[in-house]
Amino acid sequence: ERGDALPRDLAGRHVVVSAGGTREALDPVRFLGNRSSGRQGYALARVAAQRGARVTLVAAHTADLPDPAAVDVVRAGSAAQLQAAVHDAAQDADAVVMAAAVADFRPVDLAVDKIKRGDAEPEPLRLAQNPDILAGLVRERAPGQVVVGFAAETGDASGDVLHHGRAKLRRKGCDLLVVNAVGDGKAFEVGENAGWLLGADGGESEIPNGSKALLASRVWDAVVERL
Ligand code: CTP
Ligand code: CA
Repeated sequence: ERGDALPRDLAGRHVVVSAGGTREALDPVRFLGNRSSGRQGYALARVAAQRGARVTLVAAHTADLPDPAAVDVVRAGSAAQLQAAVHDAAQDADAVVMAAAVADFRPVDLAVDKIKRGDAEPEPLRLAQNPDILAGLVRERAPGQVVVGFAAETGDASGDVLHHGRAKLRRKGCDLLVVNAVGDGKAFEVGENAGWLLGADGGESEIPNGSKALLASRVWDAVVERL
């Protein structure tokens, strides 16, 4: 989609988007991380700016992506840093979209010096829960602020992708949840950019397979309806 063809329906709004994957340090050279590229979050930020919003992009680790034009980019490496940056930016935001892949766990101990090989078998890693940033945003949001989550789900014995998406929407308490089907979904034949947009108001719409910019447009359409 060409930016100049988009509506300016986010003019005067401040939106916050988180993107990429957090890294949880083990020692000065090692971390626990994930494969998130950040592309969906960057597309969300770019499209919001094209639609007239003031955009704060809180970027964890991403593929080597260029900063989107006319967007404030704040770097955050770990889940704790991302939480602080998102919380800060959300204070005066009209909408917050959590597209980042936040590590659920972090190592309990951060070694000051590089962990050495040694002769003995290594100790098991002890992990602690990270805070649920999205749940915190929902708890502390100002009236009228729209909060959006993302979830990548697979179907399993207990239910299909939609079933898990609906349950996560209820659990998280956000206004909108973008559910991407991942893995070889048995119940649904979908491509990697397809999914569903679930609303806390019960609205559900399928997002057809398409570009990340197109999915971003659908998300902002749904946000604008709720602002
Ligand atoms: N999220 C978050 N903080 C975390 C983990 C996740 O804010 N510590 C956000 C993600 O950015 C995403 C949404 O919550 O918008 C859903 O993430 P997901 O990993 O699917 O949810 P979890 O509750 O961690 O569930 P699961 O056990 O399936 O990983
Ligand atoms: Ca998770």
